[in-house]
Amino acid sequence: MFNGKSILLGVSGGIAAYKAAELARSFIREGAGVQVVMTAGAQRFITPLTLQVLSEQPVATDLFDPGLESQIGHIQMARAAHLVVVAPATANVLAKAAAGLADDYLTTVLLATTAPVLFCPAMNTRMLEHPATRRSLETLRQLGYSVLEPDAGQLACGEEGAGRLPDPPVILEAACRLLTPPSLQGRRFLVSAGPTWEPLDPVRFITNPSSGKMGFALARMAARRGAEVTLVSGPSSLASPTGISTVRVRTALDMEQAVLEHARNMDAIIMTAAVGDYRPAHAASQKIKKSSDTMTIPLIRNPDILASLGKSRPHGVRQVLVGFAAETEHLIENAREKLIQKNLDFIVANNLGESGSGFGVDTNRVKIIDPTGAIEELPMLTKDEVAARILDRVESILS
Ligand code: C5P
Repeated sequence: MFNGKSILLGVSGGIAAYKAAELARSFIREGAGVQVVMTAGAQRFITPLTLQVLSEQPVATDLFDPGLESQIGHIQMARAAHLVVVAPATANVLAKAAAGLADDYLTTVLLATTAPVLFCPAMNTRMLEHPATRRSLETLRQLGYSVLEPDAGQLACGEEGAGRLPDPPVILEAACRLLTPPSLQGRRFLVSAGPTWEPLDPVRFITNPSSGKMGFALARMAARRGAEVTLVSGPSSLASPTGISTVRVRTALDMEQAVLEHARNMDAIIMTAAVGDYRPAHAASQKIKKSSDTMTIPLIRNPDILASLGKSRPHGVRQVLVGFAAETEHLIENAREKLIQKNLDFIVANNLGESGSGFGVDTNRVKIIDPTGAIEELPMLTKDEVAARILDRVESILS
């Protein structure tokens, strides 16, 4: 996520300061170089040595350090950073930054940097809700800073409420959005993901092994580029991505309703969901008891959501429609047929027989086919990378 990027991680003195260690590691794991700056308060909760070892760099703490400051280190640091993340950001640091004070290393760097800054407030709920803190946050937003809303839950002080520092993956995603060019700003995307459950009785259903990973990756990557994303997902164990409106559904009929309800005004619709083609004609109201040796379940066809979107494409506005084709044989022929029959801009075909591709895994090897018949074969890529390639195509059609 952060290859070649320099992140300046500002740590201020709240109990959540200990979480900065895991956060620094997470940034480094994703390819970033991390320079840590700590306030005096932060050093009472976690030692600079811990963060120095994890970040593999001396931690800046003293604005008047003769060694570090002989080269005016704080200005160099402010210049070198691609992004500044303040996590946790205490009420004190927020107030100082909002007022433009520069009385320690961190607040001085905040004034000197031109890089985007992400504040991650974490504190007691009452401190967070105090009008003075609210005003600091409002001022910071007006000054062009980004603020990540704290999570709600059990706080270290024993109280319940908003004020928890979000987990590292949430902070990393917010940071990544700030570093990604907003090429889809103002665009609206609808993505479907996951399998459907077609009930036989209250405790059994027909489904498939789709995990939702491809659709969730597309939703996340589109949001990183600034799109407003709605994700309609069948049953999936994946957590709803932050900042994306996620609608959870179970059956193909539920999915049809949710997709058609949101389809209007979308700039692009990408159907990655593995929608069940058939459902049991009757779902028993009570658990089916075993009796005879064999059993026959009549099935009826589910609506083809993508085909109906393709039939009623809006006139006068460009709406990009993308489908997926997962096949075990005749991949290209079958995908081409779907592309035409469903009236799509392009289709992404993957061979379910290939290892490292398709259901459940984090990688995918796909072919992208367009209505001219042209086929682009992508190498084995992560699902995030496949998503990025698909979005590049959608962007070029939209523009
Ligand atoms: O025809 P097939 O199911 O293989 O087509 C796959 C594509 O159509 C996928 O994009 C899938 O999300 C979509 N689809 C759908 N409604 C169905 C079945 C598939 O929208 N009932």
